[in-house]
Amino acid sequence: MNHLLSRLSPSITNMIRMDHTHVLSAFHQYEVETSPRVKKGLVDNICVALEIHAQLEEEIFYPALRAIAETAAVDKSVPEHDQMRRLIKQLRNLSPGQPSYDETFFELMNNVLHHVADEETLLLPTAERVLAGQLGELGAEMTKRRLQLAAPRSGEIAGSMARSMSPRSLAVGAGALLACGYLLSRPRGARPGVAQRAGGTVAR
Ligand SMILES: [Fe+2]
Ligand SMILES: [Fe+2]
Repeated sequence: MNHLLSRLSPSITNMIRMDHTHVLSAFHQYEVETSPRVKKGLVDNICVALEIHAQLEEEIFYPALRAIAETAAVDKSVPEHDQMRRLIKQLRNLSPGQPSYDETFFELMNNVLHHVADEETLLLPTAERVLAGQLGELGAEMTKRRLQLAAPRSGEIAGSMARSMSPRSLAVGAGALLACGYLLSRPRGARPGVAQRAGGTVAR
């Protein structure tokens, strides 16, 4: 299994980019006029994806980077994850019919967009310079840990995806469902092109 994961997993930096793309695409499905049921499905789906992604970065990516590079940019990432977790907690305590639901969601989106922009313009390029020989191995480690973290939440993930399935978001939901298989099928080291990364341009 470890050998298979090592052979099939994308590099850790490409896996992080794909996670970002998935979440940004889901963000773009949310509109003020979206029905409360679909809003809740989208938000639940986004929150689980963000929680798993942040934990993977904190357990695997940030420590690998800290071990070898200057850490200021990494150090500010963890408090940003903590702020994201606070907003997720607030959203879970709100009903999608409340006006503050939209406000809290857009605050979360704003924070995540800035965080992702910093990771994609500072941390990932640095990692690709200083961790060049370890990116594949770290990608395999992240895939293994992702499966461990996602397994106990599979019911929650399936439920939120089903609720988020408006006609417009159907394609995104299907994309999320296939994301793991897609990632595993990519040749290691192949960097996703801009056209493949819906929502991949992040405005600051
Ligand atoms: Fe992060
Ligand atoms: Fe990230």
